[in-house]
Amino acid sequence: MGGLYGRVCIEYHRSMTALETRPSDAFTNDRQFVFHSWSAQGALNPLVVAGAQGSWFWDDKGKRYLDFSSQLVNVNIGHQHPKLVAAIQEHAATLCTIAPFHANDARSEAARLIVEAANHDRDYGLGMVFFTNGGAEAAENAIRMARLHTGRHKVLTTYRSYHGATAGAITLTGDPRRWPSEPGISGAVKFWGPYPYRSAFHSSSDEEETARALQHLSEVLMVEGPHTVAAIALESVVGTNGILVPPPGYLAGVRALCDAHGIMLMFDEVMAGFARCGEWFAFQKWGVRPDLVCFAKGVNSGYLPLGGVVIGSHIADTFRDRPFPGGLTYSGHPLACASAVASINIFKEEGVVEHSRMLGEHIIGPALEALKAKHPSVGDVRGLGTFWAIELVRNRATRAPLVPFNAAGPDAKPMVELANACKAAGLWPFTHFNRMHVVPPCNTPVDEVRQGLAIIDEALSVADSYVTA
Ligand SMILES: Cc1ncc(COP(=O)(O)O)c(C=O)c1O
Repeated sequence: MGGLYGRVCIEYHRSMTALETRPSDAFTNDRQFVFHSWSAQGALNPLVVAGAQGSWFWDDKGKRYLDFSSQLVNVNIGHQHPKLVAAIQEHAATLCTIAPFHANDARSEAARLIVEAANHDRDYGLGMVFFTNGGAEAAENAIRMARLHTGRHKVLTTYRSYHGATAGAITLTGDPRRWPSEPGISGAVKFWGPYPYRSAFHSSSDEEETARALQHLSEVLMVEGPHTVAAIALESVVGTNGILVPPPGYLAGVRALCDAHGIMLMFDEVMAGFARCGEWFAFQKWGVRPDLVCFAKGVNSGYLPLGGVVIGSHIADTFRDRPFPGGLTYSGHPLACASAVASINIFKEEGVVEHSRMLGEHIIGPALEALKAKHPSVGDVRGLGTFWAIELVRNRATRAPLVPFNAAGPDAKPMVELANACKAAGLWPFTHFNRMHVVPPCNTPVDEVRQGLAIIDEALSVADSYVTA
């Protein structure tokens, strides 16, 4: 090998070898050059991850962690699934990229499989897919479609929600991550969704919570003017803001309100979809028809960036003769789509949806109930599939949270100590406000799930030590 090409290759090889033999550079260069999400850059101490397999990952010193966070609740199929890795390698050798206006086998097949999954248990009238790079762009394009389809502007979302960090998606978001980006886009209106454990409506049963939450939403619609509302956008099961499973009848009630007023119902299933809730899509548990569905994360476990919108045929028809005014250079990226095809096929071959449902019903749900009986700091446990929350309190009678809403700094100390106890014992947890979420990969073997739950059981003594009554 000679000439410039040879020199470049040798240099490249040298730099790769250097990287491999000096792992500490990863940390130093990260601290110097990598600008991290959601963080003050000064005080970061990122773990240097050297590798991962299945439900485990390990750092550069060889310490192993059982991944009970699925990273950002996206690695639904576990790390380095050999068939998924092979499919990406194979497609990379064939076609790494092609512009979105060409047709391509990986993209076409991914769209077909996603539409099939969205209509898995019955025909919900979901007919086409618009691909994006992730969840936030899915939300942006879904509201664009709803607005153009209805000719209306407003979009209603709940206070306890997260929809992404781009301008529109962060404005739709209800949680405090929205505050620094306000005022954001126009036409975003918030309402309270159901949350039986901390009801905004002072309900004392699930039935009451459903009835009162729907009454509240209908009153918000009344004063906003229902004819001005393009869409109601909901996480079908609220994720980061609490794993809030809608009480029976709620989603059907929202559908009825949408039908009464010609409003589009958009389900954000970026976190809840693709086996996380023990269904292909969470809304299928309640059989409620959406007009638009946002997906990302679990569609290919984040092996490559991919998201999108599953579009109701009636909305897609709006754009048969009229151009859709939106697009992305990487919409339907072939490599990302090939990974989605492989991932969905693995879900089918290995029964990942069914395994996730089984884990929720027979392993995680009963184990969390036992933790609640044992630990005074556990106020509530809730969830389904591999999507669970342990809500921690200082006082079970008053339900005073273990740490305040949006706690930071010293206020957050009890949760930081709890997370550190888990990490020290070899479990990587997902914590948010006063909750620990139990969100391992959806295909985690039963013995590893039990191993993780045993670590959480031990660590909860840290939370118990803050209980006052
Ligand atoms: C429900 C929901 N919607 C949207 C998003 C945004 O997805 P992304 O980070 O891929 O833009 C997230 C991310 O956590 C999410 O949980």
